Amino acid sequence: MLKVGIVGFGFMGRMHYQCWRELEGAQVVAICETNPNIVEDSAKAVGNFEGAAEDVDFSSLELYTDFEKMLSEMEMDAVSIALPTYMHKDYSVKALEAGVNVLCEKPMALTIADCEQMIAAAEASGKILFIGHCLRFSPVYARVKEFVSERTYGKVLMAMFHRLGSVPTWSWENWFLDEKRSGGVVLDLHIHDTDYVQYLFGMPKAVSSYQAKGPKGGVVHICTHYHYDDDKLITCEGGWAAMPSFDFEESFKVMLEKATAVYNLSEGQKLKICPAEGEAFTEEMTKKTEHFLQMEHFAKILLGENPPEITTLEQSLNSIRIIEAEKESAAKGQRVSLV
Ligand SMILES: NC(=O)c1ccc[n+]([C@@H]2O[C@H](COP(=O)([O-])OP(=O)(O)OC[C@H]3O[C@@H](n4cnc5c(N)ncnc54)[C@H](O)[C@@H]3O)[C@@H](O)[C@H]2O)c1
Repeated sequence: MLKVGIVGFGFMGRMHYQCWRELEGAQVVAICETNPNIVEDSAKAVGNFEGAAEDVDFSSLELYTDFEKMLSEMEMDAVSIALPTYMHKDYSVKALEAGVNVLCEKPMALTIADCEQMIAAAEASGKILFIGHCLRFSPVYARVKEFVSERTYGKVLMAMFHRLGSVPTWSWENWFLDEKRSGGVVLDLHIHDTDYVQYLFGMPKAVSSYQAKGPKGGVVHICTHYHYDDDKLITCEGGWAAMPSFDFEESFKVMLEKATAVYNLSEGQKLKICPAEGEAFTEEMTKKTEHFLQMEHFAKILLGENPPEITTLEQSLNSIRIIEAEKESAAKGQRVSLV
């Protein structure tokens, strides 16, 4: 039985709790959270998608407000770090130095220097540090990765990914809206697709990005063209400029030599494939969520089951590098090289 602690029990902390609870062979034993009203507040809905637990059994958990105390008192195989992004580095390093494996939410950290410190701490400790780039585990996105890698439908000619919503309103102290603590919409939200582009096609040679600013002057939307050696056209857009009633859009179109693949979360976890010949068909996906599948994968690593490699720390760091290049490109109005 893997004994797990969760650090930060807001939206994603409760998502991790739900996933760990569903996973056989794991047990959440402790939570570290500074909100003194966490027991009552955990019954309220949070976040921009469903899945976070609202019925938490606190009677079976040790509750801490001090992470170092939790590390010294609890026997844990791993911690899920679901804290605001600016805390990822310090808390991951502390856990690793205490000999505890870490599943840390994306994005890895605010800066490349912080990512490097996290990687150094993981190497020095011999423990696992895993960054939760959950989109790589999404059944729909994993299926696209599979047929792109296997060239089932030939080469990709064009791919366009979208992630659009309204300003997040649920976060503790509204930290999402503070660029210094969250990295803003580009590092926080759009990185899901940036990291996925890296997963599909490797590191881009350069990026060209364009941005829109909101009424208060902050960046609220970014569009990026990722340049590769060949002439495929790969673009993503991400933003939180939409009005609340827009809800949330996660979608893509991938044009291949012998098929077109289309997905929109609003229609459910299904992938529409339009082949070169014959009728379009829909592939239904497992009902397991990307967050659960990611947790299951992390648990397999801890248990020595050697699951196929889906993400590496170097790739998680490289996603921060690409994001920094996108921000620079959008600010300067220039293409920015990554080689
Ligand atoms: N993978 C995804 O799909 C996804 C979705 C949303 C957010 N995230 C990421 O998850 C992380 C957390 O985001 P969130 O939406 O859960 O934020 P949140 O504000 O809902 O939760 C953060 C929690 O941390 C607690 N906290 C603050 N300081 C603390 C401390 N020192 N010790 C213990 N607890 C502390 C806060 O009280 C709050 O409950 C961020 O890095 C975010 O980018 C990932």
